[in-house]
Formats: sequence, C-alpha cells, structure tokens
Amino acid sequence: MNTKALFKLSYGMYVVSSKKDDALNGQIANTVFQVTAEPPQISVCINKENLTHRFIQESKIFTVSILEREAPMEFIGRFGFKSGREVEKFKGIDYKLGITGAPVVIQNCLGYLECKVTNNIDVGTHTIFIGKVAEAEVTKDGEPMTYAYYHKIKGGRAPKTAPTYIKEQ
Ligand SMILES: Cc1cc2nc3c(=O)[nH]c(=O)nc-3n(C[C@H](O)[C@H](O)[C@H](O)COP(=O)(O)O)c2cc1C
Repeated sequence: MNTKALFKLSYGMYVVSSKKDDALNGQIANTVFQVTAEPPQISVCINKENLTHRFIQESKIFTVSILEREAPMEFIGRFGFKSGREVEKFKGIDYKLGITGAPVVIQNCLGYLECKVTNNIDVGTHTIFIGKVAEAEVTKDGEPMTYAYYHKIKGGRAPKTAPTYIKEQ
C-alpha cells in the first residue's frame, strides 16, 4: 500500500469555531466539505481531544471561517497548534458573533458559514459533525488557501491531531 496517494487528496483551510456559554474557541481544520445542497449541509472531522470538539458536542453549533491565501503562519499556529485550554484564542482577533452566538473570524478570512449540528458520526479518534447551514456570508474578495498551498508554498505542517496527519518516513 502506498499511503503517499493520500497526499494527492485536496482540501481547503478553515477555522472551525464554537462556543460554550460565554466561552469561545476555534481551531484550524482542513477536513471541511459540503455534503448536500438541499438543504445545504457541511461536515467537519474533529479530534475528540480538542476543546473545540467538546464545545461543538455541547452547543450543537459550529462555524467555518474560510482562510485566505495570505493568512500568516503565526495566525495558523495560534488556532492550529495551541489549545483553547491554554490560550484565549480569540483575544485580540478581529471576529464577530454570528446568529448562532458562535464566533466567526473576520481577519485573514474570505467568508463564513454558520451551522447547526444535524448528525454526528463516531470514527474512533475523531467525530464527523454534520451541520445544516443557518447563515453564510462573503466578507472579502480573494483566493482561498488550499491545504497543498499551506504545505508547499508556506512550508506548513499538520499536527498529529489532524485527521490527515501522515507520519514522516
Ligand atoms: C493545517 C492543519 C490542519 C488541521 N486539520 C484538523 C482537522 O481537520 N481536524 C482536527 O480535529 N484537527 C485539525 N488540526 C489540528 C487542530 O487545529 C489542533 O489540534 C488545535 O490545537 C485544537 O485546538 P483546541 O483544543 O483549542 O480545539 C489541524 C491543524 C493544522 C495546522
């Protein structure tokens, strides 16, 4: 089996956020895709250890903010390599609360989707959350960042908690 074939799969780059009472949190995820058109539904695969997982499970709400190509590595590091258990991720970040009460990121993003969870699938280390889109907006013109661009052009990597993590040979 040549697992390098997995590198040929394409993804985007997103900040997936949620809330728990007044607390806000978000994380980087590349595993976002649209699953149906009528009604519009989105899925995301989230590690069970992540704080974002707990927030989505409890509030049944998540948002997806679409990263622009120019999003700096420092910004991706804050949301993708740190946990909201240790840092207040939204402190100093340009965001707003959506109609669901969960945060959507404005800076470094092109738009967002707000979702209400309709289903979830236990896939072992992760849960796939499926959500119906309750609100959506385009906030800026520009090119979305792809997972390949993040790796090849920006020299980025993904942590072990990412579903698409592949161990270095
Ligand atoms: C490029 C990249 C892609 C990632 N994709 C995912 C993903 O799809 N699902 C996931 O659970 N974690 C993913 N992660 C890891 C989480 O962003 C990371 O574990 C984060 O620190 C969790 O934060 P939290 O504990 O505050 O929720 C990714 C990280 C990076 C840098």
